[in-house]
Amino acid sequence: MLDVKQLSARYGHVEALHLIDLTVGANELVAVLGPNGAGKSTLLRSIMGLTSSSGRVTFAGTALPRRSASAIARRGVVLVPEGRGIFAPMTVAENLQLGAYQIGGGGAEFAARLQHVLSLFPRLKERLSQTAGSMSGGEQQMLAVGRALMAKPKLLMLDEPSLGLAPKVVAEIMETLGRLNAEGLPILLVEQKAPLALKFAHRAYVIANGRVAAEVNPREIKSYDELARYYFS
Ligand SMILES: Nc1ncnc2c1ncn2[C@@H]1O[C@H](COP(=O)(O)OP(=O)(O)OP(=O)(O)O)[C@@H](O)[C@H]1O
Ligand SMILES: [Mg+2]
Repeated sequence: MLDVKQLSARYGHVEALHLIDLTVGANELVAVLGPNGAGKSTLLRSIMGLTSSSGRVTFAGTALPRRSASAIARRGVVLVPEGRGIFAPMTVAENLQLGAYQIGGGGAEFAARLQHVLSLFPRLKERLSQTAGSMSGGEQQMLAVGRALMAKPKLLMLDEPSLGLAPKVVAEIMETLGRLNAEGLPILLVEQKAPLALKFAHRAYVIANGRVAAEVNPREIKSYDELARYYFS
């Protein structure tokens, strides 16, 4: 589904990603792990066309346009960014509406989509007229995922959805991602909390110093020490 080849990215003179090869299959949930500063966010931002990068990113058989996040989003690639990117002064309903720019607001498809998102996250249903900024961190993350789902993604990418959240809320969000994936949505998940991500992922890549340090099968990981050694490679 997603095929990333020899992707490099730089910020000015600093190369943040170096020749990354990575794939996400049609029904896969793929995790990207790695230490702070490894290049995980840069990877997602580069796929989304938000960095100065080189290499080739193919999605569903055709190359993704370069440096045009809106064109890439129209292809169905949707990113839930680090820090969520929701609009705090706007209500939950308005945020969800903004996510639906692909399908337009008001129509039957919009209503069906909204129904689906609210059934996945019942807490949002109770808070449709509340401002996004007044919700708890967990609820805001649910809104960020919900808003992304309103865009009818064909590939959902998430950048550390667990950041700063209580374990119970994180588990709830991860269960929902697992369910979405089981329904056929491919997911690329950046996560620092390795045990959590590996519980749901089919495959995982460890990124260190802007490179793929390892590709792992979560079923074969015996200890997290084993994983951590890649962090310092
Ligand atoms: N806008 C930017 N300008 C310059 N350098 C940047 C910029 N964004 C990131 N970098 C650098 O690129 C490298 C990779 O950063 P990135 O944010 O991708 O790491 P990360 O793996 O997502 O880290 P974290 O786990 O802390 O979120 C780091 O060295 C970082 O300092
Ligand atoms: Mg990051």
